[in-house]
Formats: sequence, C-alpha cells, structure tokens
Amino acid sequence: MANIVVVGTQWGDEGKGRVIDLFAKKVDAVVRYQGGSNAGHTVVVDGEKFVFHLIPSGILHPGKKSIIANGVVIDPEQLLKELEELRERGIDTHNLYISTNAHVVMPYHKDLEVWEEEKRGKNKIGTTGKGIGPAYMDKAARRGIRMGDLLEKETLKEKLSLNLEIYHQLYGFDYSEDDLMQKLLEYGQKLKTYITDTSLLIHNLMREGKDILFEGAQGTLLDIDHGTYPYVTSSNSTAGGVCTGAGIGPRDISKVFGVAKAYTTRVGEGPFPTEIKGAVGNLLRKRGGEYGATTGRPRRCGWFDAVILRYAARINSLDELILTKLDILDQLDKVKICVAYNCRGKIIKDFPGNFELWKECKPVYEEIEGWKEDTSKVNSYSELPSAARNYIKRIEQIGGVPIRLFSVGPQREEIFATT
Ligand code: GDP
Ligand code: IMO
Ligand code: MG
Repeated sequence: MANIVVVGTQWGDEGKGRVIDLFAKKVDAVVRYQGGSNAGHTVVVDGEKFVFHLIPSGILHPGKKSIIANGVVIDPEQLLKELEELRERGIDTHNLYISTNAHVVMPYHKDLEVWEEEKRGKNKIGTTGKGIGPAYMDKAARRGIRMGDLLEKETLKEKLSLNLEIYHQLYGFDYSEDDLMQKLLEYGQKLKTYITDTSLLIHNLMREGKDILFEGAQGTLLDIDHGTYPYVTSSNSTAGGVCTGAGIGPRDISKVFGVAKAYTTRVGEGPFPTEIKGAVGNLLRKRGGEYGATTGRPRRCGWFDAVILRYAARINSLDELILTKLDILDQLDKVKICVAYNCRGKIIKDFPGNFELWKECKPVYEEIEGWKEDTSKVNSYSELPSAARNYIKRIEQIGGVPIRLFSVGPQREEIFATT
C-alpha cells in the first residue's frame, strides 16, 4: 500500500478513525503526527466502541506498530489512562512507540487555556480544553518540555523551573515544583520503554520496504495556517504536517486520502456558511449522533460544502476521497450541496484566502433529490438508491476528487468501494 496519509477535509470528526482502522490492515505501522488529546477518533468493532485520543487508531490490529511522532503534544496522564483502558479491554499495547521529541502538555497549559478562553469572552475559540494551544505555544517559544526530558532529571528540573517562573510572572499561576517534578518523573518511568527516536524508526521501516499510514487529526479547516484562523487548532492538520510532524521528506509520501462526511459538522466557535439551524440541523445531529467524541459537546450541522472540498483537495494534494455517514441523510426529501459562495455580491468558486472575506460568504446551493430509503443495509455501491449514487457523483464532479469508498454505518464492515 506504500506510505499513505489520511486527513480530514472539513472541521474534524469526518470519520478518520474508522478509515484508519480499515487501512491499518494493509500497512505495517500507523503514525500520529500532530495534535494531541483534542482528537477523538472512533472505531466500532463488533458493536464495541473504541475512542482514541492520542494512541493511533491502528492499535486494534495486533502486530502493527503504533507510533506517536514528534509533532504530537502529549498529556502523559491521558496517555497512561488510554493505555490502561486498552489493556483492560485485552488490547496488546506493546507495539507503541513515542517520540523523544514530542512535547508534553502540562497542567499549566490547561489552566492557561481556561483563563484565556474566559478573557476572550464572546470571542472565545471554543477549544477542547486539553491544553493544546498553550503546549504548542511553549514549543514555539523554545521552552517546551519534551518526552525525552522526563527521563533526564537535571534537564527536567531546569526547564520546569524556568516555565514555572514564566507562568508565575506572566499569569500569576503558582504550582508546587516538587509535586510537579515528582509527577513528571513518575510519568517518565511508566512510559520510558516506549520513548524512542521515532523519525529514525519510521525511516528504518521504510528502508525495509514496510508500509506506513500517517493518521491526521482534526481537519483541513482547523489547520493553524490554512484553516479558518483564529478558529482553528494549533498544529498543521493538513498533509503538509506529516513531514515536520513525523520527520520524513515529502517524497516519502505516496498517496493522500481525504475523509469527508456526507454533510458538514463543526464543534466550537467560528463561522460556518452551510450551517443549518432548526429542524434539519437537529435531525442530522440526532441521526448522526453528532456530539463531540472528546468533549461531548453538540456538533453544529450543515450541508456539504464542495468549495471547502476543492480547497482541501488543493491544500492536501488529495488523490482520493472517502465519503462517510451517507446513511444519515436517508430521510431527507432534498439534499443540498454548496457549489460556490456569494461573497459581497460576487460568485466565487475558490475558497477565499482572506478570512474576513470568507466569514461574510453566503452559500450557493445545488439542490438534488433525496433518496428517502434506508441505505444502512446496503452491501455495495450498486445497491444504493440511484439518487444516493447521484449525490456521490455530484460531490465527485463538483469537488474534483474521485470518491473511492463510502460508508453507511459506523461498523468496521459498513464501508464499500464505489466501483
Ligand atoms: P474522527 O475524529 O474523524 O475519527 O471522527 P469521530 O470518531 O470523531 O466521529 C465520527 C462518528 O461517526 C463516530 O461516532 C463514528 O462511529 C461515526 N461514523 C463513522 N462513519 C459512519 C457512517 O458511515 N455512518 C454512521 N451512522 N456513523 C458513522
Ligand atoms: P478529530 O481528530 C473536531 C476544534 C475545537 C475548537 C478548535 C480548537 O477528532 O477530528 P483545540 O482544543 O484544538 O485548541 O480547539 O478545534 N477541534 C476539533 N473539532 N474534531 C477534532 O479532532 C478537533 N480537535 C480540535 O472544537 O473549535
Ligand atoms: Mg473526532
């Protein structure tokens, strides 16, 4: 299968977890390369649900390597909890590898996030509260504590002192240095067997001809550079993040897959042109179980936005698309696809690079017939009602990306090829 990337093409929660689980069968290792425990990736196997926050969604496949690379920010407490829960459910976690250079999410990162969201008031970002932004902030400020530091007492002490001093001076936050040191060293001891040079590990796997799958978290519009800034996360969640986040070169990537939901959702604040308020939005939320896998917050729901898909295709150089949750649209009389925006009186087909412009854009819709049939039991593309096939075809035509797979249920086997 060579080295492939799976990224979200919308605002996250597109169903990446289930796609990773499917592709993981065919590769030797699955790598998380950005984000942290803000992610919530769901995999359902024989009715049993697993939600992954930090651990790659391929871990359910015995013998495959699960790698958390340098670009991820790790909350050790969350990671240990996730490991423990998996072990209790009989999942083998020995094949986990953690980058020595991945940054650690500290308690003061979470406190700062709460503090800043409060200060922002009505302009809050609506973050997941997992300390992600402040952890990347310290990384960029070159004072971050990294996983390898948890194994080096003297270095850790120096770095921690500096950080506690800075957080005290800047924000008036106070923590017991001794307590924190003790906790961090304990985390280090519990995780030391997993901590390694993951860039070299990935490189060596590639040299042996092994296939690697890079698991994106969040989605294109949450990317810190290319998303709907400032309503974004703090990492590069687009395919470009793979190289820096895992320590590989761009020529090592053979294929990029995008995942899109058959409609759109967004959790947190920020503009959302195709958002549906009222009955249809509520129906999608209810049928789609659209509540955050990490925070439980209700997700905002809207029509499919093909302007965004074209943008995601460009930013990620998408080869193919996987369309999930088609079944959720089953009861609708009409289904709409946003094909362009009306922006200050002009019709535009390209996603505007200027956020100020974009937030004023109004969607221009193409309305197509709904299928009003239960698709959740189909076993192939040809069994889909013709209106559902037409919907897939239109998204493919308008979005300009071939759709390779579609899914009609959360279970492992409820995903099918379009050929
Ligand atoms: P991720 O963050 O991209 O991995 O997506 P999430 O796990 O946060 O959200 C996707 C949700 O939709 C999960 O609850 C999945 O079990 C569910 N899901 C995925 N694909 C389908 C599908 O085709 N149909 C239905 N009904 N649910 C799906
Ligand atoms: P997965 O990987 C959906 C959103 C938050 C908020 C913004 C910033 O499951 O698709 P952060 O905590 O990252 O600083 O929050 O980004 N967000 C996500 N939304 N799915 C995710 O991950 C998300 N991770 C962050 O809701 O709007
Ligand atoms: Mg999710």
